[in-house]
Amino acid sequence: MCGIVGYVGSAVASNRPLDVVLEGLARLEYRGYDSAGVAVAGPDGMKVAKKAGRLDNLRGELAEHPLPAGEAAIGHTRWATHGGPTDANAHPHVSYDGRVAVVHNGIIENFQQLRAELADHGVTPVSQTDTEVAAHQLALEMSHGGTLLEAMCRLASRLEGSFTFVALDRDDPHAIVAARRNSPLVVGLGEGENYLGSDVAAFVGQTRHAMELGQDQIVQVTPDSVRVVDFKGNEQTGRRFEVDWDVNAAVKGGYDTFMDKEIHEAPTAVAETLRGRTTPDGGLQLDEMRISEAVLRSVDKIIVVACGTAAYAGHVAKYAIEHWCRIPVEVELAHEFRYRDPVVNEKTLVVAISQSGETMDTLMAIRHAREQGSKVLAIVNTHGSTIARESDAVLYTHAGPEVAVASTKAFIAQITACYLLGLYLAELRGNKYVDEIATYLDELGKMPDRIEEVLGLESDVRELARSMSDVTSVLFLGRHVGYPVALEGALKLKELAYIHAEGFAAGELKHGPIALIEPGLPVFVIVPTPRRPLLHSKVISNLQEVRARGARTIAIAEEGDSEAASYADTIFWVPRTTPTLMMPLVTVVPLQIFASELARVKGYDVDKPRNLAKSVTVE
Ligand code: F6R
Repeated sequence: MCGIVGYVGSAVASNRPLDVVLEGLARLEYRGYDSAGVAVAGPDGMKVAKKAGRLDNLRGELAEHPLPAGEAAIGHTRWATHGGPTDANAHPHVSYDGRVAVVHNGIIENFQQLRAELADHGVTPVSQTDTEVAAHQLALEMSHGGTLLEAMCRLASRLEGSFTFVALDRDDPHAIVAARRNSPLVVGLGEGENYLGSDVAAFVGQTRHAMELGQDQIVQVTPDSVRVVDFKGNEQTGRRFEVDWDVNAAVKGGYDTFMDKEIHEAPTAVAETLRGRTTPDGGLQLDEMRISEAVLRSVDKIIVVACGTAAYAGHVAKYAIEHWCRIPVEVELAHEFRYRDPVVNEKTLVVAISQSGETMDTLMAIRHAREQGSKVLAIVNTHGSTIARESDAVLYTHAGPEVAVASTKAFIAQITACYLLGLYLAELRGNKYVDEIATYLDELGKMPDRIEEVLGLESDVRELARSMSDVTSVLFLGRHVGYPVALEGALKLKELAYIHAEGFAAGELKHGPIALIEPGLPVFVIVPTPRRPLLHSKVISNLQEVRARGARTIAIAEEGDSEAASYADTIFWVPRTTPTLMMPLVTVVPLQIFASELARVKGYDVDKPRNLAKSVTVE
């Protein structure tokens, strides 16, 4: 939540700082789009422009009132926490003396106390934000003397909560200084210029050399130096890494929306997630599995912690891992985990799933788990992210950058990584022979083509969505691994088309929700393969039950399933012979396309649904 960009270069009075920061903000807008703002510092002092609403509003403002050229700039795109999305609450916030400008991501929990202290100095904030309070406090620290870095150390030690702060000093435009605790910040390393960003998307158009920062660290970036210290000012070393995707990965590439592009990237996301993880003899090698084999053999319970779509990937993992490894798997919404005093110990493996690797709820859950002695394995898409850094082992999904706020290809890659984990544990713990593992891996290897086949349904699914532009409620039913797919189908529709939608375990319907069925109500049913007759027949019964009550039934079923076809008003086929446990990789695709099209028909912004942000860095 909130996107932050910083730039400092050696050219005096150049437009480059502003250009780089605006480009970075455009790439980070998915982190929040309530307002946008920039500050530029140079020979003409420091100037700020900020506007409520999308980045385009800020661009309009800059066209009317250009900022002078400079040497350094910072920028911000906001997801509102303290105070509404107004011009006044937009970042950057400037201190009472005009000396420093600050942008911030996170929540300062002791801001009321800090605000009260300002009154003693005769300083009255003009906005409702916690950030402005911190900007004034930073200026007060500077008034005691020393550098911006020293003042930041003193301030950061006094702040409670989560924050990434980036500050610009009017009197020294050769440096930007940033502090981080629990919120993301990465450094981009250039030649004669350096960058800061909430994630690498901020500067990937400029450099692919990057440095990640640890918890409670402060960085001072000048055109040709990067200095990292802790909050006490002790020197620290940041970890360098190379960004493994280029800027083309984050452009729409001919699609109308990022979401459409990302739906079409699902086959590649699966293939990339599988790549390099198999051995010539058909086994598995997970280089990133830094937890010892002895510990993994002793695990007697797995708890998956995640939020939203990632949690639904965890639900799929439960079916696969329990079946393959015979280890009990619980799936817990990360924000509920630590508050319920969960029973975890050194024999519990906690698996955190997160596209961004920054979701605060998930981060707090893994910290709690590690405090209890559990090992944490993260399934993460973003390199250098906090969850990846703080976990004992990381299994990266190689889905590439996901820009649309609604997760699509990342969900599919997360499920793929969960399969890899399940098969790895099954092999290690002796639940499956290597040749059995090889058969599953072979099937997984066929999934990109199967997904490609389902993408061929696109125009039919879009046509169905267009015919439903006036629906007000949609239900999704599934059983076994179809159940999390139903939940995901409903979530996609809620977040993109703002339509009431609910996903149910198909068997649960008769325990209450069937009362919702009325003539014409659209009900999607995820039908399992007829090769699992018991499971299949139950879902077919559920399909009949809703049809009998007048529902408009849309089935996602295996090609040639005549029973499903006979009870469905509309049917979408997924490829025959897809293994039961791998069905979610194909059945979810039509639901993603459906939600995207319905949002488009209703005139909504498919990539940036209202009230949401891509990376949820507050609890
Ligand atoms: C929905 C969606 C969210 C995320 C959730 C977790 O389309 O994207 O539900 O899945 O906020 O985010 P990550 O995976 O970044 O931890």
